[in-house]
Amino acid sequence: MSEDAMAKDNGNGAAGLDRMLVLEVARVTEAAALAAARFCGRGNEKAADKAAVDAMRYELSRVSLRGTVVIGEGEMDEAPMLYIGEEVGNGTGPEVDIAVDPLEGTTICAKRMPNALAVLAISERGGLLHAPDMYMNKIAIGPGYPEGVVDLDAPVADNLAALAKVKGVPVSAITACLLDRPRHAEIIRAVREAGAGVQLIPDGDIAGVIWTTDPDETGIDIYLGSGGAPEGVLAAAALRCIGGQIQGRLMPSNDDETARARKMGITDIKKKFTLEDMASADVIFAATGVTSGSLLEGVKFRGGMAETETLIMRSKTGTVRRIKSRFRDVGKHLLADTRD
Ligand code: FBP
Repeated sequence: MSEDAMAKDNGNGAAGLDRMLVLEVARVTEAAALAAARFCGRGNEKAADKAAVDAMRYELSRVSLRGTVVIGEGEMDEAPMLYIGEEVGNGTGPEVDIAVDPLEGTTICAKRMPNALAVLAISERGGLLHAPDMYMNKIAIGPGYPEGVVDLDAPVADNLAALAKVKGVPVSAITACLLDRPRHAEIIRAVREAGAGVQLIPDGDIAGVIWTTDPDETGIDIYLGSGGAPEGVLAAAALRCIGGQIQGRLMPSNDDETARARKMGITDIKKKFTLEDMASADVIFAATGVTSGSLLEGVKFRGGMAETETLIMRSKTGTVRRIKSRFRDVGKHLLADTRD
């Protein structure tokens, strides 16, 4: 192997994200989940989110990478930490782009409801869409279907019929997942009129998209509706690892949002983004449960110990891992200044 090839080799015989990063990335979402979990059920969304952000940022600072946050807590002037463009990592190692959602489901965490997660995706430089914090209209299905079987611009009934056909089931056997929002009334009506079922979720559409990848287990075949654009990119990163299809289109609500999207490099505001557009390179995706749900167990505190469950996936190999971790000295994972 030439010196250049050796320099690019990732320890797995091929260039791309080093597979050793998998464990490092898991540590980062574990730390965020552990920190947020202290605030579950306390009714304080901001405190829960801040704890997760602080912990994620601290843990990222220990990882050997030169990362740039491309999906973060906001733009530089509105977020003190993990803002878009912030450099993270310990300043050595590969140059990567990082998308974070330290607490996906701040409200569900504050209310101690199911499926709050700490989420992070890491890609080779330039591998993730720089999506502004605004709504995105989304459609997603799991793996195993012909490309393009559903389309963001097709009527709801047509998408459900096409999906049912390739699945070999009647439309009545299809269930669509949507965020429970008044803005989705029309889509919900169309799904039910077509004869399919609806599963409404209070928050957390990254999990909503991931559920489509295992309909036998989750009962969910398709994700529909609008949610955060950053969450759309993180969901696309997950599907790049696990398989599936997603399309999304930004929904700027005013000129300011349009300008922000353009500032972030999106010239065609009406573009229908595919999975490839949103997650275009080798990616590692990790999510740790904060509250228990059907995707992951939440953080459990037992005496002086804590347990977490993390889903971690790598697109290069398609490996999907679930890591159960036990932390003996929980304080060490919650207080940055006492950690080594
Ligand atoms: P937060 O954790 O930032 O509260 O996001 C939760 C969430 O439900 C996302 O999963 C989803 O994409 C977005 O909010 C939907 O936004 P809205 O609550 O405005 O409908």
